[in-house]
Amino acid sequence: MEKQREQWASKIGFILAAAGSAVGLGNIWKFPGKAYAGGGAAYLIIYLAIVLLIGVPVMVTELSLGRHTQKNTVGIFRQLDRRFAWTGWFGIVCAFVILCYYGHVGGWVLRYIAAYVTESSAVMDGGLNYFYNLLGYDAVGGTLFFPWTAIAFAAVFMALNCYILLKGVSGGIEKFNKVGMPALFIILIILLVRSVTLGGGAAEGLKYMLTPDFSKVDSGTFISALGQAFFSLSLGMAIMTTYGSYLPKKESIPKNSLIICGLDTMVAFLSGFIIVPAVFATLGSDAVGKGGGFAFGALGGVFKAMPAGAVFGLLFYVLLFFAAISSSISIAEGLIAFICEEFHTKRKPTTIALCVVCFLIGILYTISQASVDLHLPWVDFTGVSSPIVGDWMEFLTDRLLLPVCALGECIFVGWIWKPENVIKEATAEGATFGWAGLYSFCVKYLAPLGIALILIYSFATGTTVS
Ligand code: ALA
Repeated sequence: MEKQREQWASKIGFILAAAGSAVGLGNIWKFPGKAYAGGGAAYLIIYLAIVLLIGVPVMVTELSLGRHTQKNTVGIFRQLDRRFAWTGWFGIVCAFVILCYYGHVGGWVLRYIAAYVTESSAVMDGGLNYFYNLLGYDAVGGTLFFPWTAIAFAAVFMALNCYILLKGVSGGIEKFNKVGMPALFIILIILLVRSVTLGGGAAEGLKYMLTPDFSKVDSGTFISALGQAFFSLSLGMAIMTTYGSYLPKKESIPKNSLIICGLDTMVAFLSGFIIVPAVFATLGSDAVGKGGGFAFGALGGVFKAMPAGAVFGLLFYVLLFFAAISSSISIAEGLIAFICEEFHTKRKPTTIALCVVCFLIGILYTISQASVDLHLPWVDFTGVSSPIVGDWMEFLTDRLLLPVCALGECIFVGWIWKPENVIKEATAEGATFGWAGLYSFCVKYLAPLGIALILIYSFATGTTVS
């Protein structure tokens, strides 16, 4: 007899775990810079439209597919239609690639928490140089070295992931998120109040974020917002299908999908409203950026320039830590469910092996950062050249695999399996689905067409990684 699948212990536990998965580095270190570059409110409008018309329907679809089949993301298509197994595989490849670099960025976050506790002046004064130093480049002496510290902290971060994951779905992931997510929301509010009350240019920054500037919107803005929405909502990466498979039948999928997407988008917007005004008020409008150099380097100057900056800096990296780990455990969970079920392995050795392998591959990401941020052609510490591994990873996942995976799911559900089956699953045991008609329209026409058009448009116009 097949073993009963583990389930979330409570409704709130599931919501916090799914929101914890969605709210991650994507919301805090990617979104504000993209929103700034995409014309403030103009980007927010485009992003919101994509979340509502594509993100929410895909969320309903993924949770329903998982719950209906009670399988991992590849198993879903093995059961329903093998011709679409590639969709599941795309999700698996995405999750694997993302976990490799996510674990290392999580390590940098831990290093910054430690730094703000032990040497806050050094980290704030050092700014970008402190960050480069962590990544193995001594900007003062102009020398490169192997970034042992960053790698050691990444090992600690992955070990923490492993510890939570070994405790299981309800005993580990759910329990952690019940503490981590409320803490994240409290810190977010504290930082928001601090940022918008900074005076100086803060009001101007807020105004920038609230005023649509469509002159900044170009072909790249749409693909950037689409990839960002999938990444941020944890769609197309084997997570929500897996989390759905642990969801009891009595829970309403439409309602929960709206809550998860709503919380995630709220945190992304709030992060924009925290970071952009804070940078305007301290370093000036030109300093708003994104990615590692910005979140770890430039923000040092922002905290330095604000009263009690060391405290707010520490709070910011604690926020980033909760966001990162609640997402990385979800990425790993999708992979663990896949490996255990498809290859009949045991959870404990699978979890340990996965965390170790991702950590080891991720080392390439960390050592390649010096080449990305410093624009060196490559950094070759060990005989292994790793040219722009970071850019390549993001391009492959956000811009290609995530949207194509979601496109496959929409085509499969919209045209082969039929939206009626999702609606039946989503409303099992009496849940209501007032917008089922709209859902069918979106999954059948709007979402696949929107994804396809944005993908074609961006490739036809030669949009590059950003
Ligand atoms: N959804 C996660 C994030 O935004 C992966 O970082």
